[in-house]
Amino acid sequence: MRAIRRARPYHGICTHATTAELTMFYRPENGHGLPHNPFNAIVAPRPIGWISTRGTDGTDNLAPYSFFNAVAYEPPQVMFSSTSTKPDRGDTKDSVAQIRETGVFCVNIVRFDQRDQMNATAAALDKDQDEFTVADIEKAECESISCPRVTASPAALECKLTQIVKLPGAANFAIFGEVTGIHIDDMAMTDGVLDPSKYHPLARMGYKDYSAIRDVFTLKRPGEV
Ligand SMILES: Cc1cc2nc3c(=O)[nH]c(=O)nc-3n(C[C@H](O)[C@H](O)[C@H](O)COP(=O)(O)O)c2cc1C
Repeated sequence: MRAIRRARPYHGICTHATTAELTMFYRPENGHGLPHNPFNAIVAPRPIGWISTRGTDGTDNLAPYSFFNAVAYEPPQVMFSSTSTKPDRGDTKDSVAQIRETGVFCVNIVRFDQRDQMNATAAALDKDQDEFTVADIEKAECESISCPRVTASPAALECKLTQIVKLPGAANFAIFGEVTGIHIDDMAMTDGVLDPSKYHPLARMGYKDYSAIRDVFTLKRPGEV
């Protein structure tokens, strides 16, 4: 049976009638006309980089960023992006401000059972407040950089800043880092292989939704044995 598309009385949105055309199209500058912005929900799931940093004044900071990913193998590199400001930081947030000061950061991977702690660290605290303390999260010292990390995370990537790219938009910055040290919890591995069933990595969906990785399968590329 063919789906019937309800008319969308929104400015700038095309609706079409045939099966191939049962697709909403909009130009972001014209608005989506939906109850909530679908953009994040389209690019989902996104891994969560739980970013720990330390300011030059010694204040530690921890915050989740889901505009996050690995971007190269050799040398290993990651990126995340920060997209708005807080009043006591001018043009950005605490994480980017501290990375500008020190040139280092650590990416902590979030286990499903760390979801509430992770969420607590998304609060916009004053710049001299430490989310590790406020959210009661145990910290350890990184090995290759002067920076805290989340002790109980299944894995953590110590990073040296390579570049900060100013993106279009008022406060959008992409932060790139080269990984200089890697921690993997023994409990996150089975026979020397990272085993997501041991820690169920948390991922960000759209809106207020999350997912925990529980369903893993294997595919070989063409030609692989
Ligand atoms: C799961 C999750 C993902 C988030 N991802 C981002 C992101 O990618 N970019 C961003 O600017 N803020 C993101 N936020 C909001 C920041 O965590 C929040 O603004 C936080 O207060 C920033 O902390 P900071 O000022 O200590 O860096 C996210 C929040 C949550 C809960």
